[in-house]
Amino acid sequence: MLDVDELRNEFPAFSGPQIFLDGPAGTQTPRRVIDAVSHAMATSMSNVGGEFPSSYRSSDLTNKARQAGADLTGGAPEEIVFGANMTSLTFALSRALAEEWEKGDRIVLSALDHDANVTPWVLAARSRGVEVAFAELGADASLDLDHLDSIIDERTRLVAVTGCSNAFGTLIDISRVAASAARVGALSYVDAVHLAPHRYLDVEALGCDFLVCSSYKFFGPHLGILWGRRSHLSGLPAFKVRPAPDVAPGRWETGTPPFELLAGFLAAVDYLASLGWGGDRRGALESAFREIGEQESLLGERFLAGLGDNVKLIGPPTMAGRVSTFAVDVAGVPAPEVAKRLGELGIATWAGHYYAVEPMRRLGFLDRGGLVRIGFLHINTSSEVDAVLDGLAQIAGAA
Ligand SMILES: Cc1ncc(COP(=O)(O)O)c(C=O)c1O
Repeated sequence: MLDVDELRNEFPAFSGPQIFLDGPAGTQTPRRVIDAVSHAMATSMSNVGGEFPSSYRSSDLTNKARQAGADLTGGAPEEIVFGANMTSLTFALSRALAEEWEKGDRIVLSALDHDANVTPWVLAARSRGVEVAFAELGADASLDLDHLDSIIDERTRLVAVTGCSNAFGTLIDISRVAASAARVGALSYVDAVHLAPHRYLDVEALGCDFLVCSSYKFFGPHLGILWGRRSHLSGLPAFKVRPAPDVAPGRWETGTPPFELLAGFLAAVDYLASLGWGGDRRGALESAFREIGEQESLLGERFLAGLGDNVKLIGPPTMAGRVSTFAVDVAGVPAPEVAKRLGELGIATWAGHYYAVEPMRRLGFLDRGGLVRIGFLHINTSSEVDAVLDGLAQIAGAA
């Protein structure tokens, strides 16, 4: 078991009274990440490519961060591209992939997804006269994978899907989606932004072509990470300036990288690995995520068991097939009001659609202020679960 009290000591943000259940919107950072960012700024701010020690340090840092990205995803360092965030990386990739699409082609998107894995593709498709089809929701805010299979046809060039819903916590069987895409020669693009803080990533086992995540969702700084199969990153047309590298992954990284954030990302991956054990960092990450999953399941089960009758959960009713992210509707009280009152009680949650526009619209919550989202991470405690349950009960009781 993780020693959560001990771990929390590493997070300066937890020294105050606020309870952080807003992890799905962004996590707090351990001291080692903060120190790594400031250390890099103090020592390694020279650009790469110079013939002097501080430039060598920046190159070394970049290589180490790429190795950390490889360990985190299960890919190779040359397959790791850094960018501003997931949304920017997806816009860049969509533009490149669309160059090879033709009128009459189709792309398949998911009705469960965050808009960052929807609109970039819709705009790219529009610019090429390509048809967009949506896989619809299944029961309990899942994705209907039979429906998804039924709309993937010989014309399909891309299937873009989330690994885990940022609104409802639902897990998606990515290997199945990737296999369905591969059967017709389509590429698969996985939004792992909400998956990465909760589950071990293994791109080879998933069998996808691209996977993207964001380090501020797993205790690091604001930095996007894209893993792409080597052949795609080398072969696809990249939009780059002429002097930028012609080889992957550099050809995808526009402009000068944020060295200080690479240092923070490296420290965040090391923090995660420190929660596990095993020979190398990859092995440690695998065991760390088993521990993380267990701790989060305990918190999630406690939360589910304590939900009152007038608080309605949207999404899987048990911890099976989900992570510890919960969307709830408190009878009679608009979600923004609930989140505000929880905020007054010192509990940070979120209200609205959290950019999960497609599922919120389909479930009828888009025009009603959305839902309240409560997210537990491995560094949350059972007393924090009880505090939010008490808060919800108070708000529902007063309604
Ligand atoms: C599931 C999911 N995908 C994509 C994004 C967008 O990520 P970024 O802020 O890195 O662009 C988010 C952000 O909340 C998210 O939760």
